[in-house]
Amino acid sequence: MQATGTCEEGIMERFELLVNGTRHTVEVPPDMPLLWVLRDVLGLKGTKFGCGKALCGACTVHLNGAPVRSCVLPVSAVAGQPITTIEGLDPAGNHPLQRAWRELNVPQCGYCQAGQLMTAAALLQQHPDPTDEEIVAAMAGNLCRCGTYLRIRQAIRRAAELMRQEGLR
Ligand code: FES
Ligand code: FES
Repeated sequence: MQATGTCEEGIMERFELLVNGTRHTVEVPPDMPLLWVLRDVLGLKGTKFGCGKALCGACTVHLNGAPVRSCVLPVSAVAGQPITTIEGLDPAGNHPLQRAWRELNVPQCGYCQAGQLMTAAALLQQHPDPTDEEIVAAMAGNLCRCGTYLRIRQAIRRAAELMRQEGLR
């Protein structure tokens, strides 16, 4: 990275980001949260803003395969590391979780769902056949104001079943 100028918000620096397998060069303040770089600079609007304080999970993306809260993660901390957003989970939108989500009509308003899916995807990567307790524990930090929690848990179990049937685990 290098300082390249100033803007209303302060010093601008250049960062190389690896998002969904594509390299991007962005010029932003180093303390800009990753969420705003994704949404406002790269145009990846699938990741949502909820609380801005790492409390709700709406902004969850993967960093090196692990779920992180992009609303509190400065861009300077993630340069060069693989980042996956909901747009990159499966280019065709057919990840087993996405298929299970559709099959069970999980979303209500939909606002929290990208974060729910990204947290669930990281869970299935670590635990392809999670127990109910593991599902509850992994998803506990992702809030849903519409109360879709039961359908989310059912859909994670269904996705695990699809992965087993299709030899994906
Ligand atoms: S917006 Fe990031 S955790 Fe709520
Ligand atoms: S589906 Fe509306 S907030 Fe979760």
